[in-house]
Amino acid sequence: MIYPIVKFGNPVLDKPAEPVTVFDDDLKKLVQDMFESMYEAHGVGLAAPQIGLSKRLAVIDITFKEDPNAKLVLVNPEIIHTEGKHRQNEGCLSIPEFREPVTRAAKVTVRAQDVNGKWFEKTGEELLARALLHETDHLNGKLYISHISALKRDLIKRKIRKLVKAGEW
Ligand code: NI
Repeated sequence: MIYPIVKFGNPVLDKPAEPVTVFDDDLKKLVQDMFESMYEAHGVGLAAPQIGLSKRLAVIDITFKEDPNAKLVLVNPEIIHTEGKHRQNEGCLSIPEFREPVTRAAKVTVRAQDVNGKWFEKTGEELLARALLHETDHLNGKLYISHISALKRDLIKRKIRKLVKAGEW
């Protein structure tokens, strides 16, 4: 099932998500649906709040279907190590059409559970590091625009307000 993506302005994106405690077939189905929804939206990462579910769950595939082994499921993830700095344009499916350069750690290690509840650690660099941070941020009620200047953030918010008024958001 393809879920519609929740956009900026919806309060589900601003609140910390609830831990996942049940690792059953419903969770597996949800993960599958999240990958499908992410690909449909042409994204490389999707967090559950972005489909309106306040759960600590995210999926990532920075290769966009190129490498099946690159599919990553993060349940209850926590960033346990960061190092270096890397600046690159960043966007979000919940803030479509906008992109801004964001400085993030260049190398990141996350600790998370898989779809069966088994804990693992994963280290990523550059784009993967960015995705790990971006998606974990979502689960803490944080969007990438919280990492850009207030000036740029206000500009984006103003443009979004206009789009909302025009019925185009
Ligand atoms: Ni996002």
